[in-house]
Amino acid sequence: MHKSENWGTRIGVILAVAGSAVGLGNFLRFPGQVAQNGGGAFMIPYFIALLILGIPLCWAEWTMGRYGGVRGFHSSPGIFSVLCKTPKARYMGTIGLLIPLIIYMYYVLIEAWCLGYAISYLDGSLMPANNPGDYGVFFDNFIGANSDGALLTAEHNWFLGVLLVTFGLNFFFLYRGITKGIEAFCRVVMPIMAMLAIIVLIRVLTLGTPDPAHPDQNVINGLGKLWNPDFSKLANPSTWLAASGQIFFSLSVGFGVIINYASYLRKKDDIALSGLTASSMNEFFEVCLGGLITIPAAFIFLGNAVPTNSTFALGFVALPEVFAHMPMGQLFGFLWFFMLFIAAITSSLSMLQPVIAFFEEGLGLKRHASAAILGLISMLGAGFVVYFSKGTVAMDIMDFWVGTVLLVVLALIQAILYGWVLGIEKGEKELHRGSHIRIPHFIQLILKYVTPLFLLIIFFMFITGEDAAKSVKAIQDNPVAKMTMMFILVIFGFLLLMVHIAGIRWEKEGRFDHLLEEEDD
Ligand code: PFF
Repeated sequence: MHKSENWGTRIGVILAVAGSAVGLGNFLRFPGQVAQNGGGAFMIPYFIALLILGIPLCWAEWTMGRYGGVRGFHSSPGIFSVLCKTPKARYMGTIGLLIPLIIYMYYVLIEAWCLGYAISYLDGSLMPANNPGDYGVFFDNFIGANSDGALLTAEHNWFLGVLLVTFGLNFFFLYRGITKGIEAFCRVVMPIMAMLAIIVLIRVLTLGTPDPAHPDQNVINGLGKLWNPDFSKLANPSTWLAASGQIFFSLSVGFGVIINYASYLRKKDDIALSGLTASSMNEFFEVCLGGLITIPAAFIFLGNAVPTNSTFALGFVALPEVFAHMPMGQLFGFLWFFMLFIAAITSSLSMLQPVIAFFEEGLGLKRHASAAILGLISMLGAGFVVYFSKGTVAMDIMDFWVGTVLLVVLALIQAILYGWVLGIEKGEKELHRGSHIRIPHFIQLILKYVTPLFLLIIFFMFITGEDAAKSVKAIQDNPVAKMTMMFILVIFGFLLLMVHIAGIRWEKEGRFDHLLEEEDD
């Protein structure tokens, strides 16, 4: 019989879910999205998406996760089978493994950039005194953007070492398990991360007008640069699409990770308040910290030249320029990039856990065997992204098709499973078992009718939109883009096969027999 792992404490699980949610999305992706999509006006579609999609789907994932977990399953193939009362449903769950696994393959690289930048501030090599020259050129060279294979040259050995350390840390905490690994780590580093972010925020908000020659480049105008609303953008459907995309990415909803984390709860652990708390923490980090630091800081030193249309240019080019000019910039540069690294690692851990859980429960493998296989596959994937570094083509393809489009599909599957398969009556009862708050009934109606419809519309807008057309063209014209797509499909095929095998084992073991006659209590 399977032995179950559980979270140790309530604050532990909240911090772990918040750790997954708070990441590079909050500090880099969010300000870029706000600046490109109407500033303060973006908050209207953003909060609508939060209320209609984000938080309801979070609750649905928490509910279904705990429901599957108490019935012995922790991965989406298993949980979906429990919900549908047939092991055939497991195939749908494959995308709940594919999405976090593929995202990990490139997210871990960006995580290593952050650690690499933090170290470069420690040893001063990113400061102007050591003449890094143009920060754009520095960054392109750092990530090997100029040619494929560039990161494999001797000059980049140092970075590959940093990447290996990042990988090692992820697997170290993963291997230690839910309570001793992920929970213990998040409990320690989440408060540290919050403190670091607040220190940097105070530094930025007290900068005043550092350059008397440019009196308009001050804190107030910096905040205005990001937040002054441009309501005309609201007429553009792409603004609404961007807001929904940001909500998903930021809350880690639709990735198959919350459902996995929630599966380690006990039958009567609260989910209603915990889910809401974790989401609120994410919003605090995103709107109050992410929204007040990067763009205002960049504006104060660079004026209107802040690159608001590229997340990477903002985070890895504009900000180093800011730290170069800021009093005590070396210290703040280190604190900032180290904080980003912490934010990223608590997120990347959550991408690995669903897959390792699947190898354990689906294939009956022990922890070390599962970790070894997962290590091998994810290293292969990260190696692919490391090698095909030119123009970040491989990364962009993965991010668009898996990290943007496919997650809408998974969110839709989850909304249907909750609203129509489990059913909102049962769902509402489950959600409130052991709960510390009562959630209004209309949320259930939203989940059943509004959320799936909204998701369907978003899905069609995505695949008929400009970005999809651009990406398809890239796949036709660029061999690397084509290979990346093939790579994703190969991983998908492999996972499907594993899921197929897992189901045969589960059926043989009679893992679903008792579900059919289960009484609802
Ligand atoms: N929510 C994370 C962020 O804002 O950076 C990103 C993320 C975490 C994506 C976990 C996917 C995932 F499975």
